[in-house]
Amino acid sequence: MQTAKQLDTIDLKVDLESEPIIFKRQIGLLIAKKAQAEVLNFFECNQENENRGSNWWYTVEKEKTFFKSILFLSGDGLDNLPNLKKCFTSLFETYQKYGLIPIDSTFNEMRSPTSDDMVAINPIVFYYPAGTGIFDWHSHDPEYQQFQLLANITQPEIDYLGGETQILMPNESCHAFDHNFEMGDVFSFPYSYPHRVLPVKLSTSYASGASARISVLMPIHPRSKYTTTFLSELEDPC
Ligand SMILES: [Fe+2]
Repeated sequence: MQTAKQLDTIDLKVDLESEPIIFKRQIGLLIAKKAQAEVLNFFECNQENENRGSNWWYTVEKEKTFFKSILFLSGDGLDNLPNLKKCFTSLFETYQKYGLIPIDSTFNEMRSPTSDDMVAINPIVFYYPAGTGIFDWHSHDPEYQQFQLLANITQPEIDYLGGETQILMPNESCHAFDHNFEMGDVFSFPYSYPHRVLPVKLSTSYASGASARISVLMPIHPRSKYTTTFLSELEDPC
């Protein structure tokens, strides 16, 4: 197992279509911490499946997969979550720098498409509770994005233990986003490569934190297209 390469700054020479990378400290710690509190508050204020179709959360549960997914697909969904919105706009700007989103597009217009067939950004939070969170091997259709960015707004070994994201490379080696993927960091990985999240475990050192791994991501695809394919037949190549 190889820890993914870490960079302190955005380097446009890096080929994100073929290499997993951690961009360190892309989101300020205070913003990440406040975004974490906004996510926890969202769960407090909204029942599962409440407002389904606009800004809502539901549980993704199958064999070797358990997490809560919040989707912010309606225009006003982030109005009361300013720090979480900053996390999404940080991802948006990085996508623009690497040319995945046109430089003249705006965050608001791309998250409020006028039809379900238009390419859109889809702001999502994955909440992996410590003790039960896990995501089995899967991959995504790279038609609309060749790499995916994902921010961590929780701190490994404080808020949770384990919870590494593993990427299976074409040469069958494995790269990992492990404890080096810290609060405020953003990772990027080739979107079609198989990947999974190992069990997120309880940390005894958390005090008033999330007791979870919380990921902020923003897949790019038309709302009518779902791009996740489970690869449960992959036993344990890593
Ligand atoms: Fe994925």
